[in-house]
Amino acid sequence: MNADESFFPPRPTALAHELLEKIIRLGDTVVDATAGNGHDTLFLAAKVGEAGRVWAFDVREEALRATARRLEAAGFAARIALRHDSHERMADHLTEGSVSVVMFNLGYLPGGDHTETTEKESTLAALEVVVRLLMPGGALSIICYPGHEAGADEAAAVEGRMTRLAADGWRVARYQALGTRRPAPLLLIASKPQAS
Ligand SMILES: C[S@@+](CC[C@H](N)C(=O)[O-])C[C@H]1O[C@@H](n2cnc3c(N)ncnc32)[C@H](O)[C@@H]1O
Repeated sequence: MNADESFFPPRPTALAHELLEKIIRLGDTVVDATAGNGHDTLFLAAKVGEAGRVWAFDVREEALRATARRLEAAGFAARIALRHDSHERMADHLTEGSVSVVMFNLGYLPGGDHTETTEKESTLAALEVVVRLLMPGGALSIICYPGHEAGADEAAAVEGRMTRLAADGWRVARYQALGTRRPAPLLLIASKPQAS
């Protein structure tokens, strides 16, 4: 049997879902830090169920409208809290230790203005907030795009921060396709240590 290239190797977006769905429980509070067109928000909303809540952030109103439409069409509108805010300010909306999963998909809104992209400084600031918001045993995923200069710089900074989390006892991994013309998108995942 041949491995079909539509699923092997898995895209970082699909792999993130596969890994995180094992962690999310019905009723959880979770975060989509970069709502975009709402694909990850939809995945999260399906996993947390009716009693759960997905907080989704984006700096573009266009992205939040697209996410709202997608979630309404799926019948999940009541499970989401959309915020037109930068992800560095997540802690204004959520309490420490209350979140089981946070997802980031960096870069720009597909089909939107490519100049309005995530930026290294605010991404790193948001990561510091996530470290506090996650509950013990909770997890975060970040998809980075090192195929262009600013994306490579941002990816290196994120990877550096994730490496330091590993030194602090977090379980951290990095997945990336090899042999591509330009560096392929990479997925970083980390789970927070259980309270000792
Ligand atoms: C690659 S898209 C996300 C795709 C999305 N997860 C999906 O499933 O469709 C990246 C998004 O991050 C948003 N973004 C950029 N800077 C941001 C920030 N500081 N805070 C929150 N969102 C931001 C962009 O507007 C864009 O919509």
